[in-house]
Amino acid sequence: MVVAENLITITKPRLDWDVERIRKDFPVLRQTVNGKPLVYLDNGASSQVPVMVIERGAQYIEQEHSNIHRGVHYLSMKATTAYEGAREKVKRFINARDTKECIFVRGATEGINLVMHGYGRKFIGAGDEIIISAMEHHANIVPWQMLCEEKGARLRVIPMNDAGELLLDDYDALLNAKTKFVAVTHVSNALGTINPVKEIIERAHKYGVPVLIDGAQQVPHGKVDVQDLDCDFYAFSGHKMFAPTGSGVVYGKAALLERMNPFQGGGDMIKSVTFEKTTYADLPNKFEAGTPAIASQIGLGAAIDYLNIVGREKAAAYEHELLRYATERVSAIEGVRIIGTAREKLSVLSFVIDDIHPHDIGTILDQEGIAIRAGHHCAQPVMKRFNVPATARASFAFYNTKEEVDTLVSAIEKVIEVFG
Ligand SMILES: Cc1ncc(COP(=O)(O)O)c(C=O)c1O
Repeated sequence: MVVAENLITITKPRLDWDVERIRKDFPVLRQTVNGKPLVYLDNGASSQVPVMVIERGAQYIEQEHSNIHRGVHYLSMKATTAYEGAREKVKRFINARDTKECIFVRGATEGINLVMHGYGRKFIGAGDEIIISAMEHHANIVPWQMLCEEKGARLRVIPMNDAGELLLDDYDALLNAKTKFVAVTHVSNALGTINPVKEIIERAHKYGVPVLIDGAQQVPHGKVDVQDLDCDFYAFSGHKMFAPTGSGVVYGKAALLERMNPFQGGGDMIKSVTFEKTTYADLPNKFEAGTPAIASQIGLGAAIDYLNIVGREKAAAYEHELLRYATERVSAIEGVRIIGTAREKLSVLSFVIDDIHPHDIGTILDQEGIAIRAGHHCAQPVMKRFNVPATARASFAFYNTKEEVDTLVSAIEKVIEVFG
């Protein structure tokens, strides 16, 4: 197939790590909010999109838009090449063995639901046990609860200590012959804790139990090697890693995906259909019914290119220092309590201030142009564990600066002045 040269020149980000120059790749950061420069500290909810990704999406819409897989014409083949090219990039990004193990989904939530329906409903039954952890996002609780209700299975929960670290001895005590699945987050969105997922996987595998890792908060900030982890499934969202919404991936070991039921039925996921019987397409198409979010997934591929160009390790080291600085400065403010003080943490700084409701903190910070998240962060059991109704959460990306942390600190001091 002949693919014409791109008509748009994709803007390449700069090669050296220089936060001011990196920020130029993110047009959204240039604006003011309430007359103040925008300080975007809500990256855990959704990260911003660099020019390179925006232009790649625009290029698809302007010059390549067509449906994939089914067409024999030029544009359809071009769109298919771009879409499958993005899958190839994902494969390398997470070090999967094969592209057929990388299923495109709308995000981590859909990925986890796909595994619950495709694997859980087929292989988990009455009396079986599923282990999750006390710090899961609702996306990694509710689907398993639904399965337990449907099948008469039981949900078991690995507890955590006051720092927000999982208690692995308790995990060991939960594992037994009835355990049929383990689903744990790589990094907590509410606390920032990095979990020892390799260890968690290894222990489950001693019982022959497959493990799903919710990678939504890890993928934007650090390396993921699914072969090294030996996880059975790994789910993540594109919009938290500098790609558009509607993009995401669930990785699964081919041998498991082959044995699973499809998630949804429809076009593109079949080999043949008669009224008597349908046979399913090979991986990965078996799990991708209907027209996918083509532009978004191509954007995810471009986001991976972007991360590779700026350097994931350099970005992670910079973010690490930023979190250290923010933790030091925010925890020094009288009346502030940090929620989540694990030894291994990334990106997230959750806090409460005396009796001030986090929504009030968020509102005053917004007046200062600062975007943080205030609420339960779709992790109500975490709030209950720490005995707070909600927290204020600043979450960082590699385009944030120490000056922005200083702005945050001044604004928090202002909150205390107003409500104190
Ligand atoms: C740890 C974790 N898991 C799952 C999700 C759900 O991601 P999405 O809403 O993109 O499907 C989130 C979103 O905040 C998250 O932080």
